[in-house]
Amino acid sequence: MFIKSLELKNYRNYEELSIDFAKGTNLLYGDNAQGKTNILEAVYLGATTKSHRGSKDREIIRFHENESHIRMDFEKQDIVHRLDMHLKKSKAKGVAIDQIPIRRSSDLLGQIPIIFFSPEDLKIIKNGPSERRKFLDIELSQLESLYLYYLSKYNKILLQRNNLLKQVKYQDYLLDTLESWDIQLVKYGSEVIRYRKIFIHHLNIIIKEIHRKLTGNQEDIRLEYDYNVDYDEFLTELTRKRDVDLKYAATSTGPHRDDISFIVNDIDIRRFGSQGQQRTAALSLKLAQIQLVKEVMKDSPVLLLDDVLSELDNNRKTYLLESIKDTQTMITCTGLDEFIDQHLPIQRMFQIKAGKIVKQN
Ligand SMILES: Nc1ncnc2c1ncn2[C@@H]1O[C@H](COP(=O)(O)OP(=O)(O)O)[C@@H](O)[C@H]1O
Ligand SMILES: [Mg+2]
Repeated sequence: MFIKSLELKNYRNYEELSIDFAKGTNLLYGDNAQGKTNILEAVYLGATTKSHRGSKDREIIRFHENESHIRMDFEKQDIVHRLDMHLKKSKAKGVAIDQIPIRRSSDLLGQIPIIFFSPEDLKIIKNGPSERRKFLDIELSQLESLYLYYLSKYNKILLQRNNLLKQVKYQDYLLDTLESWDIQLVKYGSEVIRYRKIFIHHLNIIIKEIHRKLTGNQEDIRLEYDYNVDYDEFLTELTRKRDVDLKYAATSTGPHRDDISFIVNDIDIRRFGSQGQQRTAALSLKLAQIQLVKEVMKDSPVLLLDDVLSELDNNRKTYLLESIKDTQTMITCTGLDEFIDQHLPIQRMFQIKAGKIVKQN
């Protein structure tokens, strides 16, 4: 799978853009605030319907315009497909593949396997658990379309249960309906837990080897799924903690409180690791993610590297570039000299200035 071209209309600081990507490494360079990340964001949005920055559609539409368009041609098993995405100010976005409208984002996810890598990702171990859950959700949604379905059901019911917990204070007869919410919460939540267990199990097998190589045999890594509750105890726990939940008007049990721990040489590096250790483990996680997507989807994902090369020392940079050799990659950086091209041939280079490609070779 690879992306052949991208066309943008009224997307952030691009009035119009047309770009033909090479199958291998594409380098986008230019000063700050010229629109390099915007291009990667558009590619990511095209593949997933979501901005990696979490921006809303109306924030993405070019200032003073009402609509944005993204068109992406991608080749899959020698057949070229076309994705069209239409962002609107106050309505849901329109998506079509080969002119056929797509109604649910779960039907699009996985069509164009994609991985975004930014300096923010290097902080995943240092940051709070919500960042790690976000990682689980994004990756699993891409790999397993059913996961996204269960997760959105779960989140909806969680919200409704929490609302109910608030209302019970004033209308205590509502307490009778709590049990039916609990049963549904457990039904969908258990699926979420089940998928997360399997995912972390697979990730573990892959990351072990990568991390060993990345640290020159110095470190042994293991991920542990820190589930808040296991699926077979979910209903019991929920019932047991009902009074606490009522008191705080919040649901204290369930996968929305999950976490992953990163154990390096038997130490939990979330709390006791050095910053260097945390960043290396984060890089291993990213590399493991690439490999897992390759294995599960039997296809190579497109890799978007936003300003990460300047964040890594030479060893890690070399390792990263070596391991993505056969992957289509879009890399952004400010200066060309930042980029060590002896490790990786660059197929195409684009200089970006004020929302335009000013040079291409
Ligand atoms: N909705 C928008 N309409 C027009 N310009 C925008 C919009 N959103 C962001 N921008 C502009 O995009 C530029 C930032 O682009 P970005 O891709 O993040 O830069 P960089 O090259 O540093 O990666 C800024 O100049 C910003 O003003
Ligand atoms: Mg940027």
